[in-house]
Amino acid sequence: MNAIGVFDSGVGGLTVLKALKARWPAENFVYLADTARLPYGSKSLGTIHNYCTQNINYLLTFGLKAVVVACNSASTAILEKPLACSVPILNVVAPGARKAVEISTRQRIGVLGTRATVYSKAYVHAILRLSPDAMVTQAPCPLWVPLVEEGWIDDPITNLIIYRYVGAILKHQIDTIILGCTHYPVLRNSIVKVVGSEVALVDSSLGLIEDLEKLKICNEEKSNIGKIKLLCTDFSPRMEETFRLLLAETEYDSLELIDLNAEHLG
Ligand code: DGL
Repeated sequence: MNAIGVFDSGVGGLTVLKALKARWPAENFVYLADTARLPYGSKSLGTIHNYCTQNINYLLTFGLKAVVVACNSASTAILEKPLACSVPILNVVAPGARKAVEISTRQRIGVLGTRATVYSKAYVHAILRLSPDAMVTQAPCPLWVPLVEEGWIDDPITNLIIYRYVGAILKHQIDTIILGCTHYPVLRNSIVKVVGSEVALVDSSLGLIEDLEKLKICNEEKSNIGKIKLLCTDFSPRMEETFRLLLAETEYDSLELIDLNAEHLG
């Protein structure tokens, strides 16, 4: 199969897959959701890095053109300790930081993410490399992932919890916020209610598409013939519901339960 591999700790990366599929409808995608081992965001970078190595080795057996690390926590682990690979590995942190620097009018940038992402300071380093005078304020928002998984997307409780996490960084007069976690773009409307429409929200998949375009490896035909193969390391009927909720009108061709420990390990 000639495809682009995408992986995430779970279903959140489907927001990235959806954006990629909308840009390249004729391309084939293999998406691996490491649902047996999620969440990644509360784990150490060393553990996350080991998971990334296994995921990538498994995905490479599909004959890929590139691997997209859709998970922010996984992207930070790979940035900290790059992996040698026969195909390009793209992450979401570098393009997310670049987009924020481009969009921000006063270079006062907020970063929201999991604890792994925030504590690694990967976004802070990437922003300061591009804009040394930028002021970057971070906040981990660990409760947002379960809220999205629960489907409490535009809910008064969710809005309150968003306020609780974001209130502190708003004091720093930030003009741009990076949604540094796969699940957060799903909460965009609720986040806007809290931060106001004058604060720009950056979804890293925008910049990721530019990075992939530069490689010129994706099928540019416009006819919708590409296949989406979904793989997961644990399966429950509830999970399939969440897959459908996050992919919305984007159809997938197959969903398969895999065992990363059984084979293909590097
Ligand atoms: N995919 C993760 C991320 O973007 C969020 C979910 C998790 O913690 O596994 O950081």
